Amino acid sequence: CGIIGILGLTPVAPLLVDALKRLEYRGYDSAGIATLERGSLERLRAEGKLRNLEAKLAAAPRLGISGIGHTRWATHGAPSERNAHPHATERLAVVHNGIIENFRELRTELEAAGRRFSSDTDTEVVAHLVTVLMEAGATPHEAVAATLPRLTGAFALAFLFEGEDDLIIGARRGSPLAVGYGAGEMFLGSDAIALGPFTDEIAYLDDGDHVVLTRSGAQVFDEAGKAVERTVTRSQGTTYVVDKGNHRHFMVKEIHEQPEVVGHALAHYLDLARGEARLPEGLDFAKADRLAITACGTAYYAGFVAKYWFERLARLPVDIDIASEFRYREQPLSKDGITMVISQSGETADTLASLRYARSEGQRIAAVVNVRESTIAREADVVLPLLAGPEIGVASTKAFTAQLAVLAATAIGAGKARGVLSGTEEASLVRAFSEVPRLMHEALKLEPQIEALARELSKVRHCLYLGRGTSYPIALEGALKLKEISYIHAEGYAAGELKHGPIALIDEEMPVVVIAPHDRLFEKTVSNMQEVAARGGRIILITDPAGRDAAAIDTVETIVLPAMPAAVTPLVYAIPVQLLAYHTAVIMGTDVDQPRNLAKSVTVE
Ligand code: G6P
Repeated sequence: CGIIGILGLTPVAPLLVDALKRLEYRGYDSAGIATLERGSLERLRAEGKLRNLEAKLAAAPRLGISGIGHTRWATHGAPSERNAHPHATERLAVVHNGIIENFRELRTELEAAGRRFSSDTDTEVVAHLVTVLMEAGATPHEAVAATLPRLTGAFALAFLFEGEDDLIIGARRGSPLAVGYGAGEMFLGSDAIALGPFTDEIAYLDDGDHVVLTRSGAQVFDEAGKAVERTVTRSQGTTYVVDKGNHRHFMVKEIHEQPEVVGHALAHYLDLARGEARLPEGLDFAKADRLAITACGTAYYAGFVAKYWFERLARLPVDIDIASEFRYREQPLSKDGITMVISQSGETADTLASLRYARSEGQRIAAVVNVRESTIAREADVVLPLLAGPEIGVASTKAFTAQLAVLAATAIGAGKARGVLSGTEEASLVRAFSEVPRLMHEALKLEPQIEALARELSKVRHCLYLGRGTSYPIALEGALKLKEISYIHAEGYAAGELKHGPIALIDEEMPVVVIAPHDRLFEKTVSNMQEVAARGGRIILITDPAGRDAAAIDTVETIVLPAMPAAVTPLVYAIPVQLLAYHTAVIMGTDVDQPRNLAKSVTVE
């Protein structure tokens, strides 16, 4: 979820909406604002995308110059207007990101005391707790300060009070919150991106802090209630233009940007002229005995590919883990180990918590992130930026291949540092990767063939993806892309694992997308394809000319990419699976850039 609060000089409603647009990556199940209209709280909320709120606002403009806003990714309670934030009592309105874990007990207690609830959310208990204290005579600040210790879980909150035109109170525990300083105006937001258009002077609250904002400044208090100072930093480059260009969706625009984006990342991390990888400073791969990689969703699959690269090219053992598991598994991390977190947004709650776990274990932490000013980037020891530009489509594409580029370059550098790769081997790998943008261009030329294939795929209800080696995570990513945006049930499997269960699903109806470049594992994958073919499964083969010739198998369609060195295939083979998912979704008429139930970055656990 995303939070914004503004104490302004002009009507704030349009500014709140502008900020919410920039926060929509955190969820779009519903949105809402509360403003003070001549001192009285008024809320405007709408189910679904932000445009619904905008339409309501156009019909009933608000003039208040103090307000808070929220865009929601539903946790407790259906994504209806009734559950949309802000939540309110006669005294205050509140917006919330995170989860109040003890809300059931609190709600029972409040209901027993006669408080009436008007939503199914965990947030509403916070509104009532503060209200009860205010009714007993506490000031807004006293009431919030006394409420915070009663809440368990991770959260960020912003409050606006009836009759208090020069006051917003914010609080954070776990979930980030930033204060923005303007000239006679003050801002509160989930991240620097939200505050970008208003100010570049930003202070991040520490965990446990709460803040009292008035137009003349901010007073921050720590968990113990002691007044503290938090450093004000000048943020840069948070204003960006988002534009689809000639494309129908952001997703397809971003798919087509990949040769350029990947070229840019490779140029940054590889010295193409000297045939060397540039290892980021501050990571001692020569000394490291283990690398732990953790991430969520698509970023996790990028890490999964990287496991193969680091183990093969640098002989460095890698543990790869989903962040929501990593954070609680209590795995012992070795003293000389490195932990690498991967996150496009740099705000994913589980990934952030994993970073903090690794820190508590004394690990050196590297973060592969796209958003430079994100929480994860700020908390890591070493930041490896993707330099991919803003990614708007919820289904990640260019960030994925940019992550692969950064990770590949780092693995090559680590291989050299560990004495596994010779200078000649390093140079030949660098040369191979320098060809990737051109190979991606070639892959994009197959779009008409893939679009035609998507017509067939749009008729099915289930689909399998298979691959071996680095093509296995690409199969997982292909299946994720398809289910995310077309809602077709899709699963990816290691090709060799098919026979241990999933093969029971194969019949004449089942399409099986096989990702199989002609590499050292190709023959093995062909055997698995034979097993599918023998049971009537419909094979869609993604391979290269040698693979096409050697497969000797009946396929529904064969997509032929150019020949390329094995190390670079994940970056190039990502393109046909992305295009296949994209065109299938377009044919099915889904909301490709903002698919149902998803958020670009999930900022709750
Ligand atoms: C969400 C998105 C996924 C994304 C994942 C991780 O679930 O829907 O597409 O891969 O979060 O996001 P991050 O910003 O941490 O890479």
